[in-house]
Amino acid sequence: MTSKEHSGGHGGQLEELNGFENPGFAEHKPRITDSSPAAERTAERQIAAWFILSMIGTVWFIVAYFLFPVGETAQVRLHTMSVGLGAAVALFGIGIGIILWARTLITDAEVVEDRHDIAGSEEDQAIALEILEQAKDESGIARRSLIRNTLIAAVAIAPLPAILVFRDLGPLPGDKLFNTLWDTNVRLCKDIGGIPTREQLHPLKASEVTIGSAFHVIPENLVQDDPHGEGAFHALDEKAKAAVLLMRIDPSELNTDPEREDWGVDGIVAYSKICTHVGCPVALYEHQTHHLLCPCHQSTFDVTNHCKVIFGPAKRPLPQLPISVDSEGYLVAQSDFTEPVGPTFWEINTRETGA
Ligand code: FES
Repeated sequence: MTSKEHSGGHGGQLEELNGFENPGFAEHKPRITDSSPAAERTAERQIAAWFILSMIGTVWFIVAYFLFPVGETAQVRLHTMSVGLGAAVALFGIGIGIILWARTLITDAEVVEDRHDIAGSEEDQAIALEILEQAKDESGIARRSLIRNTLIAAVAIAPLPAILVFRDLGPLPGDKLFNTLWDTNVRLCKDIGGIPTREQLHPLKASEVTIGSAFHVIPENLVQDDPHGEGAFHALDEKAKAAVLLMRIDPSELNTDPEREDWGVDGIVAYSKICTHVGCPVALYEHQTHHLLCPCHQSTFDVTNHCKVIFGPAKRPLPQLPISVDSEGYLVAQSDFTEPVGPTFWEINTRETGA
């Protein structure tokens, strides 16, 4: 490869190319850092300051991770905001430092590079080495030890937050997805959002669920007398597992599995709302086709066929909650789900549920 440095102004080599005149490069204007050693030193310090700011961001990420542990809802926000701020400052500092370095200190002469073969002959390798040497000289990375060392330190510690983020992927769910709050004779209540108090509970009667309707439902034992208290955060965990969609379909349209004949009430059926792909809430019910759609990756479940997957990446049907009616006409669960709710995982078949 050959390269020619900018030869300066429109008066350079003007060539005819397919009838067009090559205008050449615009005139090169030297920057203040090219001529003033003081400005050069100032720029160097400014660049190093950005890298140091990046390091502060990384350190803050780690400190904030432990300082604001995930606890109740308000703490989750504080935790996310604090570690997010740390990560943003860490990446922003490196980015701005590098841009500033390129704009103020690295040689800005324009060059022409002729096209060349990709094959890496010995000669090419020697040239590549030469270019690297040239880049080393032009960027001044060898002699600008302050910039070099702060950049190396900033880049070296920037991946540390990833260790903490990966740590959050664990631990394995254990048996947490095998059991939910649903149990024998637990009433199905309308989900009004958040965690209800006892007075806010609205147990559903079978007569309220008309054909074509759909309800978001929670178990009646998901109550929290102080919705902002200690236990509210864990109640949200329980709600996430126990969320259910209740729908009523004309019984003649349901293809009922003989083993589940008594799992519904006159066309009223209940299924876990947690997508079996990666756990988004399946919240879109198309009552003409009786399809449930997960908005995250478009998995589609057919309610008339026990929520079998008919489209999308989910690999198993939504778990069905067996329901019946009590003596007062309220809808109640017959038991917990008979299989784990939520995303499929390796140990899913390793034990029976507690139901
Ligand atoms: S989480 Fe539902 S399709 Fe991916």
